Amino acid sequence: MTKSVTTTRNGDVAVITIDNPPVNALSFHVREPLMEAFEALRDDASVAAIVLACAGRTFVAGADITEFGKPMQQPDLRALIATLEKIEKPTVAAIHGTALGGGLELALGCHFRVADKAARLGLPEVKLGLLPGAGGTIRLPYLLGPQKALKIIVSGTPIGVAEALDGGLVDAIADGELVAAAIEFARARAAEGKKFPAVRDRRDKVEQADLAAFDKDAAELAKKARGLEAPVACAQSVRNAITLTFDEALAKEREYFVKLVSGDQSRAQRHLFFAEREAAKVPGVGKDVAPREIRRAGVIGAGTMGGGIAMSFVNGGIPVTLLEMNSEALDRGLATIEKNYAISVSRGSLSEEAKARRMALFTRSTDYADLADCDIVIEAVFEEMAVKKEVFGKLDKVAKPGAILATNTSYLDVDEIATSTGRPQDVVGTHFFSPANVMKLLEIVRGKKTAPDVLATLLSLAKKIGKVPVVVGVCHGFVGNRMLASRSEESESLLLEGATPSQVDKVFADFGWPMGPFQMYDLAGLDIGWRNRKSLGKTAIIADPLCEQGRFGQKTGKGFYLYENGSRTPTPDPEVEKLIDDKARERGINRRTISAEEIAERTLYPMINEGAKILEEGIAARASDVDIVWTNGYGFPIGKGGPMFFAELEGIGKIVERLEYWHGRTGKDIFKPSALLKKLAASGGSFSDPKEAAA
Ligand code: 3HC
Ligand code: NAI
Repeated sequence: MTKSVTTTRNGDVAVITIDNPPVNALSFHVREPLMEAFEALRDDASVAAIVLACAGRTFVAGADITEFGKPMQQPDLRALIATLEKIEKPTVAAIHGTALGGGLELALGCHFRVADKAARLGLPEVKLGLLPGAGGTIRLPYLLGPQKALKIIVSGTPIGVAEALDGGLVDAIADGELVAAAIEFARARAAEGKKFPAVRDRRDKVEQADLAAFDKDAAELAKKARGLEAPVACAQSVRNAITLTFDEALAKEREYFVKLVSGDQSRAQRHLFFAEREAAKVPGVGKDVAPREIRRAGVIGAGTMGGGIAMSFVNGGIPVTLLEMNSEALDRGLATIEKNYAISVSRGSLSEEAKARRMALFTRSTDYADLADCDIVIEAVFEEMAVKKEVFGKLDKVAKPGAILATNTSYLDVDEIATSTGRPQDVVGTHFFSPANVMKLLEIVRGKKTAPDVLATLLSLAKKIGKVPVVVGVCHGFVGNRMLASRSEESESLLLEGATPSQVDKVFADFGWPMGPFQMYDLAGLDIGWRNRKSLGKTAIIADPLCEQGRFGQKTGKGFYLYENGSRTPTPDPEVEKLIDDKARERGINRRTISAEEIAERTLYPMINEGAKILEEGIAARASDVDIVWTNGYGFPIGKGGPMFFAELEGIGKIVERLEYWHGRTGKDIFKPSALLKKLAASGGSFSDPKEAAA
C-alpha cells in the first residue's frame, strides 16, 4: 500500500506529497503523518523551504466527509494548519485539480500558493450545509477582501486561477510542470532570506473593508437562503473576519461549524452528496461495461422539451441533428433556441462567439434519413403512444446499428414503445425536466430489454452534458411524476374542502420549496396536465374549468392566480375562489378552515407513501435515488434531504399513523400505508438498510 504522506528532497527544498486516492481527502490517516512531516521539517535546519503537493488527479478536495458526525481523531485540520502556519521558512502549496474546502484551507496555511493553469479553488462547504471550519471564512477574506470572499463562500462555486491570481489568492501560475515550478518558487523565496507573514497576519484588505457595503451584500444573500442556515452562518463568519481579531473570529467559526455539522440540514445535504454518487452505481452495470461512443445526437421534435434537450447536447459540445415535421416548426424551434442563447449573452454568461459556435452545432432536418449518422436519437414529440410508436418504427428503419433510441416520454410504457422496433435492447427512456437546458435531473428509464451498455452510455453522457442521472424502472410516470400525481390529487381536494391556492402554496414555501403546487401549475402551463387528463379520460374539478376559460397560467396572464400586466407575481383571484366555492357547493362539501399541518400531511405523506411503493416494486434501486429525483427535478428543499430522507427525520412511525388516519377519513388509496412503510415503522428500521428495504 502506498503511504498517504511522503517527504522527498530537492536540494534544500523539501516536498511533502499527499497521496490519498481518489481525491486526497484529509482523512485521519493523512492528518497524522502530515503533522509529523510539518514538525520534522520545521525543526530540520537543512530544509530552507517546503512545498506541499498532491499525487493523483487533484490537490486535497476537502476534509473527509465520511468522518463527519463521528468523534474527530486528533490532530484535527485546525491543529494541522496552525502548525503549518507557524513554520518560519517559506511554505508553498502546489495546487492542481481542485483545491476545495479543507484542501484550500490547508493551502491558506502556507505562505504562498502556486497553481496549475487548469486548477480550481473554492470552499464548497455550504453545499454540504456547513461553513468552512478550518479558518477558510477568515483567511480567504484576508487575501481576497471580504466581499469577493463572501461571494465564493456563500455560492460554494470554485474560481479559476486567473481570478485567483488577480485577487491575490494565488501567487503564481505554473508554466510547465507544477511541482518543479513550486520548488523553484520556494527556493527563490528562501533566497530572499526574509520572513514572510502568515495569511493570518495579512489584515490590510479587511481593515480597508466597507462594512456597510458588505452588510448590503450579505442581506441580499440571506434573502435567497430560503431557510438554509449554512449561507447565513457563512456570511456572519466572513463579517467576523472584518470586525473581530483573527483568533476571536476563528473561535466563532468553529462554534458555527460544530452547530451546523450536527444539525439536520447538514446531515441532509451530506446525504445528498453521497446519494448523487450512489445513483451512478446501477445494479447490473459494472465498471467493466464500456459505454458506447456518442459523437452526434439526433433530437426529434423542436418543441418545449426537444429544444431544451438539443441545447443540453450542444452545451456539452455534441452536435445535434434537429428534426421536425416541417420547416416552419423547425424555424420556430430554432428561433426559440437562439432567443434563449441571446438571453444568456445579454446577461453576460455567454459570449457572442460562444453563441455562434453553439448555433453552428445544429443541423436542420425534416427527413428521418438524416438521422442515419446519429449515435443517439431522442424523441420529444407529442405524448401519445400511437405517435411515439410511429416515430420509433421510422427510426428503426434509418438508425445505424448500435444507435441508442431514446424517448422523452413523461408517462408512457417504454417497453411498449420498444416493440415498434426490431432492437428493444437499444431502446431506453431519457426523461428530461423542463426547462431541459436548465434542470439537472435526468431519469433514465430502463426497459425490460435495455442493454447494460446503453445505461452505461447514458450515465456517462449525462455527466458530460451537466445532468444528474438516476436509473428508474418502467411504470406510469416513473419515479418523479408518479409521486407527483399522488400529491396533485390531494392539492385539489384541499381546495374543495376549504383551503385556498395561496394558503396551500404558503405551506410549501414555508417548508422550503421554491414554490407551491398552484404556482407551479401556473408556471408550467395548466394546459399540459389538461391534455394529459383528456388522453387518459380523466378530469380535474377545478383545473379543467380553468382551462376551459383559457386560464392556462402565467402565459395567459391567468390561472390559479392572476398575473397582471405581464407580472410573474401571483395575485389571488376572487373569481377562482368563487369557482372553488361553487364546485364545493355542487358536491355538497361544507368548506371549513384547514390548518397548515393538515395541508402538509395530506400533500407530503402520500408522496412518501408512493415513494415507498416505488421501492417495494424495485422501480427505484434505493431510497436515496428517490431523493435525488426530487431535489434535482422538482425543487424539494435540499436542507430536508429529499422525501425519503425527510420521512426518516419526521419519523416513519408518525407518518404511518397519520396516513392511516387520513385513509380512515377519506378512504383514498394514496393514504393506505405501503407494506414497506409499515414494516419499517414496526421494526424501527431505515430505508438505507438494504435488509429492511428489500420487499
Ligand atoms: N470526503 C470523502 N469522500 C469524498 C470527498 C470528501 N471530501 N470528495 C469526494 N469523495 C469521494 C466520493 O464520494 C466518490 O466516492 P465513490 O467513488 O466511492 O462514489 C469519490 O471520492 C470520487 O468523487 P467524485 O465521483 O465526486 O469525483 P469527481 O472527479 O467527479 O469530482 C470532486 C471530484 C470535484 C473533488 C468532488 O468529489 C467534490 O466536489 N468533492 C467534495 C468537495 C467538498 O465538498 N469539499 C469540502 C469538504 S467539507 C470540508 O472540507 C470541511 C472543512 O472546512 C473543515
Ligand atoms: P411540444 O408540443 O412543445 O413539442 C412537441 C414537438 O414535436 C412539436 O414541435 C411538434 O411539431 C413535434 N412533433 C410532433 N410529432 C412529430 C413527428 N412525428 N416528427 C417530428 N416532430 C414531431 O411538447 P413538449 O412539451 O416538448 O413534450 C414533448 C415530450 O416531452 C412529450 O412526450 C412530453 O410528455 C415530454 N415531456 C414534457 C415536459 C414538459 O414539461 N413539457 C417535461 C418532460 C417530458
